[in-house]
Amino acid sequence: MRSFGCQMNDADSEVMGRLLEREGYGKVDSPEGADVIILNTCSVRQHAEDRALGYMAALKRIREDNPSVVFVLAGCVAQRLKSKIFEKIPFVNIILGTDNILELPRLIEKAIKKPRERFLVTEVRGDLPRLGKGFWTSSSYGCTRSSELTGLVTIMRGCDNFCSYCIVPYVRGRERSRAVKDIVLEVKEKVARGCKEIILLGQNVNSYSFNSSDFADLLREIEKVDGLERIRFTTSHPKDVSEKLINVIRDSSKICEHLHLPAQSGSNRILEGMNRGYTREQYLELIDKIRMEIPKISITTDLMVGFPGEKEEDFEDTLRLVEDVEFDAAFTFKYSTRPGTRAAKEEDDVPLETKKVCLAKLNELCEKMAMEKNRRLLGRVEEVLTERFSPREKKLVGRTRSNKTVFFSGPAGSVGKLLPVEIEEAYMWSLFGRFLG
Ligand code: SAH
Ligand code: SF4
Ligand code: F3S
Repeated sequence: MRSFGCQMNDADSEVMGRLLEREGYGKVDSPEGADVIILNTCSVRQHAEDRALGYMAALKRIREDNPSVVFVLAGCVAQRLKSKIFEKIPFVNIILGTDNILELPRLIEKAIKKPRERFLVTEVRGDLPRLGKGFWTSSSYGCTRSSELTGLVTIMRGCDNFCSYCIVPYVRGRERSRAVKDIVLEVKEKVARGCKEIILLGQNVNSYSFNSSDFADLLREIEKVDGLERIRFTTSHPKDVSEKLINVIRDSSKICEHLHLPAQSGSNRILEGMNRGYTREQYLELIDKIRMEIPKISITTDLMVGFPGEKEEDFEDTLRLVEDVEFDAAFTFKYSTRPGTRAAKEEDDVPLETKKVCLAKLNELCEKMAMEKNRRLLGRVEEVLTERFSPREKKLVGRTRSNKTVFFSGPAGSVGKLLPVEIEEAYMWSLFGRFLG
């Protein structure tokens, strides 16, 4: 199984992996030697889609060597292209939509019995896949954070925001929130199995709503779970960060001081075209408000260059926003037209070369900011959750509450423990430190 795309996909991969483990399947390290090959794909940019389909197409040799292998193409590309995938890659056995992951074991059984048949299940459902009792997942199948200590918990699916560039609402359907009690049960189950940290997942967790509970209420309930050390969540939409939520984060000892708050652009004209629902000024005001209440908060973001109609001065506005906010880290992207979205009706008029130049400039500035933010941690003592031992660095590796990776020397048997670490060296993407025994 290979997972592309965001943590929502990682969480779905995890569910699929665990379902198959129940049926007696096990993981293998490479596609050669697998009986079932599953790619969980991402469609957010054309490049992501091409990569996933290219990866699958390149597995043709395995099909030629072994006609009984079952190939599954799951995730957002499956949901978007549906049967067109059979035309592109005829040897795929199963195309599985994002809301249909629980049907995977049954479909594989069918595909084994009928290797010549093709199966397509891409029904967007009104409800949410419900996991049975006793079902548990950690993030061992996910590709982003492969650790048994961290549990990924999907709290909602879909998105109703319809940012004009984005394919997600079309592939993942309408926003649906899971019941508070189901989420709390899943968290308890994960903690009982050894998870110290959970990451709550949704395309816009701030708009979580179940009966009369909002996201802040949900956090308060999860906070009560004994044995849980850290709570993280992603992604937060700037237009929906409430004062109540800021206060809950401030007052909690378990919710980590980190917000991923995608800004996308610093230009009001572009933000409007993107249908983001906030202005540059409102974004900056929100950052001020958050920092006032939670001074230690680390803020990361997503930024895009080359949205249709973007001019030099719009891009300059984005650079200025990065300087004004001083993000701890930023994920940066070149705009990519997604068929069927509102922005796709407009001409993709920023030349690729310009997008590349802007992206390089933006990255340079974001890296400078990240480095600067990390330098400010020198000499400080941070609480680190030790995740593993890195044989390459010959050091323990963990994360600060602000989600920064720290390499440090410490006693054996530290994995899974929260340790005080003094930061001694700061780099762009990581810190080095010393365990204060
Ligand atoms: N729900 C999250 C984002 C999910 S997609 C949110 O609203 O913040 C992750 C990131 O991919 C987005 O924040 C955006 O920066 C980028 N992205 C989405 N669609 C894109 C497109 N068509 N072209 C380029 N980048 C895109
Ligand atoms: Fe896409 Fe916007 Fe929804 Fe994020 S909030 S998934 S960018 S439509
Ligand atoms: Fe990609 Fe689907 Fe996530 S399009 S970003 S895997 S919701």
